[in-house]
Amino acid sequence: MESTPQQVLRAPFVLVTGGKGGVGKTTVCANLGVQLAGQGHSVLMVDLDLGLSNLGLFLGIQGGKTIEDALEGRCSFEDCVQEGPEGVKLLAAANGSESLTALDSERRQRLIAGIAELSAQYDVVLGDSAAGVGSDVMHFASMADRVLVVTTPEVAALTDAYGLIKAIDGFGSRAMVDIPTPELVVNQCSGVEEGQDIARKLRQVCERFLARTPRQAGWIPRSRSVAQAAQRSTPFVGTKRRGLEQLCLRQIAGRFRVLVGQSVSTECH
Ligand SMILES: Nc1ncnc2c1ncn2[C@@H]1O[C@H](COP(=O)(O)OP(=O)(O)OP(=O)(O)O)[C@@H](O)[C@H]1O
Ligand SMILES: [Mg+2]
Repeated sequence: MESTPQQVLRAPFVLVTGGKGGVGKTTVCANLGVQLAGQGHSVLMVDLDLGLSNLGLFLGIQGGKTIEDALEGRCSFEDCVQEGPEGVKLLAAANGSESLTALDSERRQRLIAGIAELSAQYDVVLGDSAAGVGSDVMHFASMADRVLVVTTPEVAALTDAYGLIKAIDGFGSRAMVDIPTPELVVNQCSGVEEGQDIARKLRQVCERFLARTPRQAGWIPRSRSVAQAAQRSTPFVGTKRRGLEQLCLRQIAGRFRVLVGQSVSTECH
């Protein structure tokens, strides 16, 4: 049997993941975190794309101490926490760190223990995952209260999203851990119909082959302003903005109302 982390976090943990690279995992994670923080929640974001991290870039945070520094004993995990937009907190990872690409189990346990200790101070912890079905992704999924799988309408992304859900399902069964059925975020859609259509297709395959019914957490339009915001290292959400992408993100955030434990307003129906 594979060893799995203990359920040690003291705040709800949401893993944002996805089978394929470049589908918008970090975009969703960064903006969801800032949205929840803007609504008054204390949010810790953790860059769990440990080899090629860039969550800090999406939040306008560069430099500073990283998870690698903490794991090497150069500082504590608390020392690595940085502040971003709307007061969101970030535990950043180093970009280009080969040694962190796949953690050994001792370092993974130390990372999880570090996040667990920090988590007591927050309403929610969001993790931005690497693409794929690697061991780290499986372990982080197994400690999550909610798993968001980001896909685009592209066939390759959809196929990889299914592959990831299947891998999580298999890992959970082997390790005898009840991993929550992932929820889908369909990113870079032409509109609500395409988002629903893609989610339905994936749901049908999952029901047929995995006996799992992944719900749709929401959708986000393909939008130049989303891409431009990333270029400027700023989140596209913000309390005063009222574009479709902001409304869609608020709707996704609304799905965390119960988990985070306070009232979160939803404005996109
Ligand atoms: N809805 C969108 N509309 C337009 N561009 C988008 C949208 N979502 C994401 N992008 C752009 O797509 C690129 C990839 O996004 P992002 O880095 O969030 O993906 P990722 O899944 O985290 O990638 P990786 O697998 O490398 O971690 C970025 O340039 C981002 O700005
Ligand atoms: Mg990413």
